[in-house]
Amino acid sequence: MQVIAFISGKGGVGKTTLAVNVAVALAQRKKRILLIDLDPQNAQRLHLGMNPEEIAGLTREGISHTSIFDSPFGIQFIPFGRISEAEQEDFEAELKKHPTWVSDGINALNADSFDFVVLDTPPGPTAYLQQALAAANRALVVVLADAASYATIPKITSLVEQYTAGRTDFFGVNLLINQMPIHNKLGHQVRSSLYANYAELMVPIAVHKDPRCRRHLALSDLCSIMNRAARPVWTFKAWPIGCSTASNNDFAVFEIWFLAQTSSSSLFSRSFLPAIT
Ligand SMILES: Nc1ncnc2c1ncn2[C@@H]1O[C@H](COP(=O)(O)OP(=O)(O)OP(=O)(O)O)[C@@H](O)[C@H]1O
Ligand SMILES: [Mg+2]
Repeated sequence: MQVIAFISGKGGVGKTTLAVNVAVALAQRKKRILLIDLDPQNAQRLHLGMNPEEIAGLTREGISHTSIFDSPFGIQFIPFGRISEAEQEDFEAELKKHPTWVSDGINALNADSFDFVVLDTPPGPTAYLQQALAAANRALVVVLADAASYATIPKITSLVEQYTAGRTDFFGVNLLINQMPIHNKLGHQVRSSLYANYAELMVPIAVHKDPRCRRHLALSDLCSIMNRAARPVWTFKAWPIGCSTASNNDFAVFEIWFLAQTSSSSLFSRSFLPAIT
């Protein structure tokens, strides 16, 4: 079992979108996936067809087999849970007292039950970030190709160092560009700087900005409210068939890179990956 944390210094970069879609894509490859929402926004469930009235989640039931929900997408998930502001404050105070609460919960699950546990977090330095990093074997920092996102990288990578210091089971952090615009000079300049300054950390593919992504989320929100028939942002088809669109293509390459990184007997070398355009 490997634990992967999606983190970011800046909000709205696409952590939830990517975490859900990685999880679904891996499930399509017959990997057993548990997605855990560590974000008080409690939004992940909207991608996964959960009844919006449902209040259950890790804040009430903890991380255990009894708090796991099934989704129609072949993955299982634990929502954050719907709680009041006062309850959230108490919960966060508990997390600060027990920095390995999430890690302990995951370790108490049967390690053979899942191939990957995917953690989604809120942006910036929070108790949830600390918990996620204490549990993670790898972290993916999602960044946009813009100056504001770029500026947050030193802070978030130093938090990763701080919260994973001395851990021999932490295998590293990578930076993944999301929402890469096709025609935007500044975006391309920022991406070049990222590859120049963080070469060894960069995922060798950027996920392009895809307008259908927002439309699908809007649809899934609406669907879950109307009839609980939500669906994840993109519909993945097995690589290489069906990767006809830019973001699906990016994502398929990202998935291959991800599996190569997380596999002990790596089947793919970097040279397999297409050149970045
Ligand atoms: N590749 C993409 N192309 C176009 N839109 C995208 C892409 N990835 C994410 N989005 C959109 O960006 C918005 C923010 O995405 P998301 O909620 O996943 O970000 P987040 O990092 O989880 O945000 P937060 O920090 O608030 O948790 C959503 O409207 C989502 O549909
Ligand atoms: Mg999110």
